[in-house]
Amino acid sequence: MAETTSRFLAACRRQPVDRVPIWLMRQAGRYQESYRKLREQVSFLELCRSPELVAQVTAAPIDQFGFDAAIVFSDILIGLPAMGLELTFQKGEKGKGDGGPLIGNPVRDRAAIDALRIPDPDRDLRFVLDGVRACRAALQGRVPLIGFAGGPFTVASYAVEGGSRGFTRLKALLHADPAAAHALFDKLTQAAIVQLQAQAAAGAQAIQVFESWLGELDREDLETFAFPCLARIAEALRPAGVPTILFSTGTTAHLERLGALGFLGFDVISVDWRIPIAEARARLPGAAIQGNLDPVLLLAPPPVLAERARAMLAAATTRPGYIFNLGHGILPQTPTENVRALVEVVHGFRGPGAVP
Ligand code: CP3
Repeated sequence: MAETTSRFLAACRRQPVDRVPIWLMRQAGRYQESYRKLREQVSFLELCRSPELVAQVTAAPIDQFGFDAAIVFSDILIGLPAMGLELTFQKGEKGKGDGGPLIGNPVRDRAAIDALRIPDPDRDLRFVLDGVRACRAALQGRVPLIGFAGGPFTVASYAVEGGSRGFTRLKALLHADPAAAHALFDKLTQAAIVQLQAQAAAGAQAIQVFESWLGELDREDLETFAFPCLARIAEALRPAGVPTILFSTGTTAHLERLGALGFLGFDVISVDWRIPIAEARARLPGAAIQGNLDPVLLLAPPPVLAERARAMLAAATTRPGYIFNLGHGILPQTPTENVRALVEVVHGFRGPGAVP
């Protein structure tokens, strides 16, 4: 794949495309039988730490569905052990939790924040970088590879709460001890930057920052704590020359503000399903847009799914710079035939944004 022939990379750069590109967040995962089978043999973390398995799992949805981009199989919390945090994932058996992350020694005071180390990716996260290289080899240039990291606020919420337990502790810290909060976000910003720079150097051709829970913050706290960190991340990636995508949910009240801040330096803004895509495009002139089908629509009867996807495509392609995706990750109970049908609808669409 010459870079210029990738419709995904072209759309990131707001260039015309032959078809609307599509990939889905969490496109490698439990809705696939091959993934469920593999997970009977290895734990989630063992999988993330095996470059061979990472490449296999990353490439599987490309082969199966013909998506226009692959995303390296990993997790936004994968760097936490190298920072000094004990990370495990619950089994997720029936009645025994949801399979979510657990942190044995959550960050609860200033001393714990100061003790966090910045990972050295070449030493501590070699398996991620070897995974990136193995993915590029497995993909053989068919589609570009997206690298990623978690946004500082989202990763902090797991580090402070000890798992998927809400945001109250972290949000309370912002006001009780703003200096400590700044120190925590600074460490997580540095950690994201070194991981993303290393992934780009290892061959990632685009970068997505998953700041999934940004919508928890009010405008003032976004401006004080979150936006400056995200802007630093985008700035630090600029020399790598790869397109950057900022994903968040619950943030559509802030689109104009993001525009005024130059999209914090990101090329693509990924929006959730709570806003009509035409509105998102109108309110974000100057950025490429990614999104924003409700993941639950992939559980709908196929004709309903197709109709809603076509309406989205028509509304989103009034100008170049659109990437079809979900508003959040694909649900584990998604039928694979619906995924296949969705890719067919998107690739079959002919509209202004999809014609050179
Ligand atoms: O998109 C992809 O295909 C790449 C892989 C990927 C995973 N996690 C694999 C995963 C990516 C990009 C992520 C990001 C991630 N991880 C986020 C941000 C995106 C979002 O969904 O908001 C967050 C918050 C996490 C942390 C995390 N990892 C949680 C809360 C959980 C448990 C909930 C869940 O969905 O299972 C995970 C586990 C996880 N990460 C799984 C996968 C495929 C399931 C693990 C399993 O096989 O049991």
